Amino acid sequence: MRILIKNIKQLISPVNEDYAIFSDFKRLNVYHNVSILVNNGVIDEIVNEPAPELDVDGVINAKNQVVMPAFVDPHTHLVFAGTREDEFNMRIQGKTYMEIAKKGGGINSTVKETRQAGEEELFFTAKKNMQKMIEHGVATFEIKSGYGLNTETELKQLRVIERLKQSFPVDIKATFLGAHEVPPEYRNNKEKYIDIVINEMLPAVKEQGIAEYCDIFCEEGVFNIEESRRILNKAKEMGFQLRLHADELTPLGGAELAAEVGAKSADHLVYISDSGIDAMVSKNVVFIMLPGTSFFLMSEKYAPAKKIAEKGGIIALSTDFNPGSSYTHSMQMIITLACLKMGLTIEQAINAATINAAYSLDLHHKTGSIHKGKQADLIFLNIPSYKFLVYNYGVNHITTVLKKGIVIFQK
Ligand code: NIG
Ligand code: FE
Repeated sequence: MRILIKNIKQLISPVNEDYAIFSDFKRLNVYHNVSILVNNGVIDEIVNEPAPELDVDGVINAKNQVVMPAFVDPHTHLVFAGTREDEFNMRIQGKTYMEIAKKGGGINSTVKETRQAGEEELFFTAKKNMQKMIEHGVATFEIKSGYGLNTETELKQLRVIERLKQSFPVDIKATFLGAHEVPPEYRNNKEKYIDIVINEMLPAVKEQGIAEYCDIFCEEGVFNIEESRRILNKAKEMGFQLRLHADELTPLGGAELAAEVGAKSADHLVYISDSGIDAMVSKNVVFIMLPGTSFFLMSEKYAPAKKIAEKGGIIALSTDFNPGSSYTHSMQMIITLACLKMGLTIEQAINAATINAAYSLDLHHKTGSIHKGKQADLIFLNIPSYKFLVYNYGVNHITTVLKKGIVIFQK
């Protein structure tokens, strides 16, 4: 099955097929007036227009729009029940995220609702949110559990992720985040909860084969370095790959730990230390940055992206989509924030939202750039040139999303 995507005004792609660092991170391949030949869902060739007479089975007209790789969102908490708009309103009036959490709001309030919700209800809400994210140009997702905090509900969330995989023609990687918070019933006995995570939850998740990664919220008042190290090393022993929420609200040393345990990524990193940066660079741990979270938590502090880019770190971007600290479906908004608040260039932000994000999920061989042999995971944007993706902010420019050469969304 051969398809020609024609009338592309501007086609952009990361230069690299695996990940982009240093000077490559600042570059993009830019083609003008081209077509893409897709063979069985896979990119075959970029041809200059007017395209020669080709024997194809179908044509997709890009109508003189900008085309680029679909976004990869490598950090979402997409499966949950209930929303937290009242808490948001309290934060606007001066309460901090941590103050609200201590009073029973925050993650634990979503945990309460997620425990009560039936699997169908969770699945229904997650489907709606996923559909919205696809409409905003995402075709590859990472999704975490972490609003169950007991074996039954963590497994329920992971089953919902399995069902999303069956329902949408996108790539999804699942992450077990049982150590997202200490649930109220173990507030005064964290050791017992850690024991349950290690000896009950991890083996159950492993046995069912429904998560590839294990993540943890390594933070003051949540899981400290020593506790995180124990859980992560156990997960690693059981064959999970590792991710961390690290140095988000305080400088705890989560980045150094990520390097020590050989994690695939450490995420947030607002308070990362210089030694943490060096340690992660030396071990190729991906720096996943979530500027939407600083923005939404009304903090003026963002991860030090420019410094990390100068040191050759692999930087990826993500929405952190969740009902508490970042309720946005838009990677486009995140890209704009990365430029305005962290000082990334437009080209760096696009590399971070595509190829580097794909690398962080071990999916760079399939997606994240336009190279022969990769899936035709593409988005069409109704803008005059790719720079308008950042410049014309706060609106959805996506008109079409293709996954493996098949249209999965069209406006
Ligand atoms: O990535 N940092 C911890 N977890 C989420 C927040 C989840 C929530 O508030 O519900 C985050 O920001
Ligand atoms: Fe998160």
